[in-house]
Amino acid sequence: MTGGAEARIPEPLATPLLSVDDVHAGYGRVRVLHGVSAAVEAGQLVGLIGPNGAGKSTILKAITGFARVSAGRIRYDGQDVTGVRADRLVPLGIAYVPQGRLVFAQMTVHENLEMGAFTVRDAGARQEAFSRVYDLFPRLADRRTQLAGTMSGGEQQMVAIGRGLMVRPRLMLLDEPSLGLAPRFVALVFETLQSLKAQGLAMLVVEQNAAQTLAIADRAYLLELGRNRLEGTGADLLANPETRRLYLGD
Ligand SMILES: Nc1ncnc2c1ncn2[C@@H]1O[C@H](COP(=O)(O)OP(=O)(O)OP(=O)(O)O)[C@@H](O)[C@H]1O
Ligand SMILES: [Mg+2]
Repeated sequence: MTGGAEARIPEPLATPLLSVDDVHAGYGRVRVLHGVSAAVEAGQLVGLIGPNGAGKSTILKAITGFARVSAGRIRYDGQDVTGVRADRLVPLGIAYVPQGRLVFAQMTVHENLEMGAFTVRDAGARQEAFSRVYDLFPRLADRRTQLAGTMSGGEQQMVAIGRGLMVRPRLMLLDEPSLGLAPRFVALVFETLQSLKAQGLAMLVVEQNAAQTLAIADRAYLLELGRNRLEGTGADLLANPETRRLYLGD
């Protein structure tokens, strides 16, 4: 760190933590992404928005090895991770929280979090991970013995996010964390993303809720039909008449 209170001079762009370069990807013979690029710098919150079917989830699946990449490169922290599966990305510091609040319904909240920590061998580190997640979501601490399948939708989303956080990731990939939640839980999800960002976690967030995402995003990408359509700071896209007309209901 170079310290001091003097005005900060913008540094030349560092190598991003994650970069998706001209990626073509799909499922079997179905092509979904036709040359998509995106980048996430360390500690940044980056939004991915666009209409249904644009390929937003497929980008996260391409990064985590669930969609097949036929061309292009995915790099993380200086390594080529193209085609590397999600379970092998975990030890590198990438957590993936898929769309649909996938929790182990027949396990308790605590057991669900424990599943997230399967790679954490050290007992002290595990304990620290539980404390961190229970501090972030006091509601989960209150309900640690409840079966996850009996929690509300919003609470299950906290379990899903909490599970991803158990390994202390540097980058979290979140697919529609606020989808289908009641307004107060939507607000809680966005507050959570902001506090995780304040703790230095980088995030790539796919969201339907474009306005709220752009409001907190350092950068955002608008996708359409498997291609990049617009990109800029969250504020740029929030002010862009085209984004406003197409996705923000102006
Ligand atoms: N497993 C799959 N096999 C074949 N096609 C798929 C598969 N998953 C997604 N697709 C297709 O890929 C395209 C993009 O889907 P994707 O889920 O990435 O879109 P999205 O932008 O996340 O949409 P939404 O906002 O509805 O979640 C769609 O046409 C979809 O039908
Ligand atoms: Mg999707």
